[in-house]
Amino acid sequence: MRTHILGILVLVPCALGGQVAVTSPDGRNEVQVIGHEGKLYYAVRHDRRNIISPSMLGFVFRGQPPLRDSLQITDSARSTFDETWTQPWGEVAKVRNHYNELRVGVAETSAPNRKFTLAVRAFNDGVAFRYEFPDQQNLGAFEMMDELTEFAMADNAKAWWIASNRPRLDRSEQLWSEGPVSTLDSVQTPLTMELRDGKTYVVIHEANLVDYAKMNLRGPRMENRTLRADLAPYADGVKVRGHTPFVTPWRTIQIADRIQDLSPSVIGLNLNPPSVIAQTDWLKPMKYVGIWWGMHINTMTWSSGPKHGATTANTKQYIDFAAANGFGGVLVEGWNVGWDGDWIQNRNAFSFTQAYPDYDIVELARYAKSKGVHLIVHNETSGGIQNYERQMDSAFTMYENLGLDAIKSGYVTDLTSAGDSHWGQVMVNHYRHTIQEAAKHHIMMDVHEPIQDTGERRTYPNWMSREGARGQEYNAWGGEGGNPPEHETILFFTRLLDGPMDFTPGIFDILRTHTGPARTNEDSRVRTTIAKQLALYVVIYSPLQMAADLPENYDHVPAFQFIKDVAVDWDTSRVLEGSIGDYVVVARKQKNSPQWFLGAITDEEARTFDVPLDFLDRGKSYIADIYADGPGANWLTNPTPVAISHRPVTRSTRLHIALAPGGGQAIRIRPATGSRQPGAGSRRP
Ligand code: NOJ
Repeated sequence: MRTHILGILVLVPCALGGQVAVTSPDGRNEVQVIGHEGKLYYAVRHDRRNIISPSMLGFVFRGQPPLRDSLQITDSARSTFDETWTQPWGEVAKVRNHYNELRVGVAETSAPNRKFTLAVRAFNDGVAFRYEFPDQQNLGAFEMMDELTEFAMADNAKAWWIASNRPRLDRSEQLWSEGPVSTLDSVQTPLTMELRDGKTYVVIHEANLVDYAKMNLRGPRMENRTLRADLAPYADGVKVRGHTPFVTPWRTIQIADRIQDLSPSVIGLNLNPPSVIAQTDWLKPMKYVGIWWGMHINTMTWSSGPKHGATTANTKQYIDFAAANGFGGVLVEGWNVGWDGDWIQNRNAFSFTQAYPDYDIVELARYAKSKGVHLIVHNETSGGIQNYERQMDSAFTMYENLGLDAIKSGYVTDLTSAGDSHWGQVMVNHYRHTIQEAAKHHIMMDVHEPIQDTGERRTYPNWMSREGARGQEYNAWGGEGGNPPEHETILFFTRLLDGPMDFTPGIFDILRTHTGPARTNEDSRVRTTIAKQLALYVVIYSPLQMAADLPENYDHVPAFQFIKDVAVDWDTSRVLEGSIGDYVVVARKQKNSPQWFLGAITDEEARTFDVPLDFLDRGKSYIADIYADGPGANWLTNPTPVAISHRPVTRSTRLHIALAPGGGQAIRIRPATGSRQPGAGSRRP
């Protein structure tokens, strides 16, 4: 819904050098664009305090002098924009896009006299800018060797970071480290920083990444506090190939005075074009189960053989389980030919249409449909994008004809087969091509080993979810010690600011007693309590949310009721408490429903919170179904006790929430009348 748009255009011719500025609608965020001695800089202030000190802008194109040294501001124009738009699904239903824009014309004063416009938008929740190159005589087809954008942090802020160049190339599946900006080396975005005042937060990321390379940041390595754009390269070192006219992605700097205001982050969504999908009723947020965890804990295989997971009979059981418990989908991995042997090396062996003989995809599509369940197709590519693209049309057509409308794809690889970065322009274009083809065939996508979301789900809302960080699977594998208890409390304020994550929560067999002797802390095991696994459904946002454990681990377990009840689509979301690396408490209101859900998680420390429920409607009575860490619960020594209780609450209630070490709490708050009363409380999980 568009509320109002104001356009005020002022053209200001500028002398050599010069300075122009734009402030956010509330006047608190200001971006200055400064021409000084032939160089172009921008600076960002919040409440008149420097956040980004003057930082250089520019480029290096192959065969030309750097576009950096003889730049002049030629003119500028301002406008204001304000609209409120509605998401088909999301953490919030309505998003306000309100900004003041400054467009700064920039020209080189010496040959080759190139020119561009710097577009700057100042929002109340941050600022953004991008370079826009018109068609021009001296810059046509180009090979960009570098983008020279800098982010000179005014404060030696504390950053939570993951590396962009190690331990493996091009992967986001790492544990976060923290440290002052001055110590950073090469890091990924979103890069979340807390200023030394301990109450201002700054997040650098990008938006609308189209036909360009992903931006990492090269750190100052103790020299100063200046981060530099570091674009993911082709094998030959070129960063971006293109032709004018073109625009870069937006460089975004989200600013919040309170940690609670960091999430949900909408600045990236607002910087992407509106949806190209007119009719969105086929986009279905849903919970799903799948033939998946069994492969990760080695009770099943993707490949053919006696332990093959994706059999017709097994899949029917999962479909029955999903239908009986109200799940929308069943994911089946290992259904298609190509998994035998080294599936990571044999990337070109994958068929996306031919099933293994023991998997009757036609019958299963029919069976799933008859039970009202979506059969989610798995497309692991191992990064073989040519192989995937070659088969894409026939595969997507086949899925559509069978009524299969959701794909989980995967790109387990470091570099593309040509040696280009997994995050480079080739992959950006591949992901874009795939989401467009999927949209044509009415297919929802959940992409693993993706590039981080840059808000493109606004334009292609069939891009429902993605991985792009260490998920639950790391708790299944040995070796690296799984995800430590603090992991998800950092995830929430870093990776999850860019968009939904298919984390796959819901493991109840924490110690894996189901598949053998209980695992010790050194083994692969889940490093949370069961109550925290429940809380993750509220804390970690995804419109596709898996109940990841084997169905038999949910059988007759009272705590499973929460997974059945929890919503996946929201009218609104509020962070009630948070400290990066320590704890998060989130409340979300279910879309088109009076119900609220609350999730609280902690790191290895036990914690208590008194949470006012003042978000509830005035004059209404509710029941809270509470799934708390049971007596003696502790992620390390006693992770399974869950205490389930039910109590009346209103908006004047303060809920006392106690979390065990590595624990959590999950709460459903439903109107007191007219809804199901679950059974009596229980101390068993
Ligand atoms: C890695 C993905 O994250 C995981 O979910 C999947 O099971 C494997 N790749 C195989 O595709």
